[in-house]
Amino acid sequence: MNETESQYPFLRACRRQETEYTPIWLMRQAGRYMKEYRALRGKYSFLEMCKNPQLAAEVTLQPIGQLRVDAAIIFADILLPLEPMGIEFEFAKDEGPVFHHPIRDMKQIESLRIIEPEEDLSFLMEAIRIVRKELDGKIPLIGFSGAPFTLASYVIEGGHSKNYILTKGMMYQDYPAWDRLMEKFSEVLIRYLNAQVRAGAQALQLFDSWVGCLSPTDYEKYVLPYSRKVMDGVDRSVSLIHFATSSSTLLERMKQAGGDVIGVDWRVDLGEAWSRIGYDVGIQGNLDPVLLMSPVHLIEKEVKRILERAGGRPGHIFNLGHGILPNTPVDNVAALVDMVHEYSKR
Ligand code: CP3
Repeated sequence: MNETESQYPFLRACRRQETEYTPIWLMRQAGRYMKEYRALRGKYSFLEMCKNPQLAAEVTLQPIGQLRVDAAIIFADILLPLEPMGIEFEFAKDEGPVFHHPIRDMKQIESLRIIEPEEDLSFLMEAIRIVRKELDGKIPLIGFSGAPFTLASYVIEGGHSKNYILTKGMMYQDYPAWDRLMEKFSEVLIRYLNAQVRAGAQALQLFDSWVGCLSPTDYEKYVLPYSRKVMDGVDRSVSLIHFATSSSTLLERMKQAGGDVIGVDWRVDLGEAWSRIGYDVGIQGNLDPVLLMSPVHLIEKEVKRILERAGGRPGHIFNLGHGILPNTPVDNVAALVDMVHEYSKR
């Protein structure tokens, strides 16, 4: 951290340094719950917005004017590096991502390209540079990627999955193919994340959103080595947050895999989770995003409870347990941010 960066509460908390209040940002803080986002989205598809650096920068900054959050996150998607690898997909209406040629065998895996992010995803690097300039030192910018497992699950299943039958099928029944796919993703993600840092990202988050479907033993064998490789390969002059959902049984192992901060959802008690993983890492979370649809006095109670569970220790970054849902009232989100600042003041 340089001198300016050491002033940012969010970056200080990532390093478990004292802050005047608990910093907060929100996963999916740019998105459909905002009318400004929906207005732009009426004119462009989601991927068009991601691939246009001016629009991506604009959407990244939409929540910043309205919420006093302590960090921005670049508007992009965990699936963006897949296209230059040679994996085609589209966002089908109301279905999420759909892959028309799912990856199922070694031959397909061998043909996947290792990307050159500065060329293949130049739009994202440009968006990061624009946002950094616009933020002008006000708050830091987070870059991100998916983790190898979560990306593998999308490309093997061909989209979102309930039981991960095909993903686990490859894991258990064709380990050489699984290993090759996870190695390729690891290599791509190291390049992708480091390019974001070179473009100006000041912290990183690795989203292993769906890894909670695995047993601890399977996590150790089939996921941990690759996630660790990614986090060991990334420029750690910036802090890294390692996030998953439904991960309460995996937290110790996620810490072993790496990260300065472990992100937790709402299914665990934050105090218990932190004492289990140890106070030598930070913790991020853990408000249930659905609660944001309730009246503010109910949100307030939960904010106080979470802050109490964090015990005022340096290293807690307030966030939701997963992304903001589309029908969330913006006023509630703004109230949440201000409450966290007020009630955590030291
Ligand atoms: O947090 C932010 O504000 C940054 C932007 C961001 C998006 N996706 C924008 C987005 C981030 C960090 C992501 C990560 C992402 N993308 C994850 C991991 C986080 C998580 O939610 O677990 C995953 C699994 C994806 C894949 C993805 N992208 C899905 C499954 C979908 C469709 C589901 C949905 O919500 O519609 C997307 C689309 C997507 N990514 C949208 C946004 C704002 C909605 C696009 C739209 O406007 O229709």
